[in-house]
Amino acid sequence: MLPIHELPDRLETERFVLRSWLPGDGPALREALLPSYAHLEPWMPWADPDPEPDELAMRVRTFRADWLTGTNFVVAVFDPTETRVLGGTGFHTRDSPYARGDAEVGMWIASPEAGKGLGQAVLRSMLDWGFGTWGWRRLEWRCDAENTTSMRVAERCGLVHEATLRGCWRHKTRGDVEVFALTADQWRS
Ligand SMILES: CC(C)(COP(=O)(O)OP(=O)(O)OC[C@H]1O[C@@H](n2cnc3c(N)ncnc32)[C@H](O)[C@@H]1OP(=O)(O)O)[C@@H](O)C(=O)NCCC(=O)NCCS
Repeated sequence: MLPIHELPDRLETERFVLRSWLPGDGPALREALLPSYAHLEPWMPWADPDPEPDELAMRVRTFRADWLTGTNFVVAVFDPTETRVLGGTGFHTRDSPYARGDAEVGMWIASPEAGKGLGQAVLRSMLDWGFGTWGWRRLEWRCDAENTTSMRVAERCGLVHEATLRGCWRHKTRGDVEVFALTADQWRS
């Protein structure tokens, strides 16, 4: 793993920019979330039909602070001009210290952009960036067993289905959770 002070802050591709959220990103985040509520609400516990601007301003600051202290790495997906938020992803360390090298990749794509292959492109970039540059040892993808789009994205990107966790509390109900993962060795081969 890279030392925290040497971690990259951004990755640019032709289709999108992946970068740390920064102070000032709140309005762009709100613009992406507002039309996406119905799309996100079944799967994302934090979905809110009318998020408060002040709360979002604080949220992006917290994301930045977490990044700088190596607590959690929440990644914004911007268009190439960095004016429009296309979605969000991240390397979420959950309860594991960063230096151990285990993280879960999360993702949401704003509804106008969903279903166009963007989620798969972002996940492929996160895997290549995560294993190739950051040095993660194991990256997981967890989703509700009913979230067929999310499972499809994981499979298409080469993540290996490892387990079904039965009867987990996920959002509003108990249900099965599918665990997909890739280790650095699997990614290299
Ligand atoms: C899940 C999500 C991140 C995927 O991003 P996306 O940009 O929509 O995904 P893509 O367009 O790259 O790929 C979607 C794939 O699922 C397939 N798909 C879509 N709906 C499907 C369904 N009901 N059943 C089976 N496959 C489905 C698509 O055909 C496509 O696969 P293909 O390329 O083989 O045709 C996005 O839809 C999203 O934000 N969903 C709401 C939040 C969420 O569920 N996040 C993930 C939590 S684990």
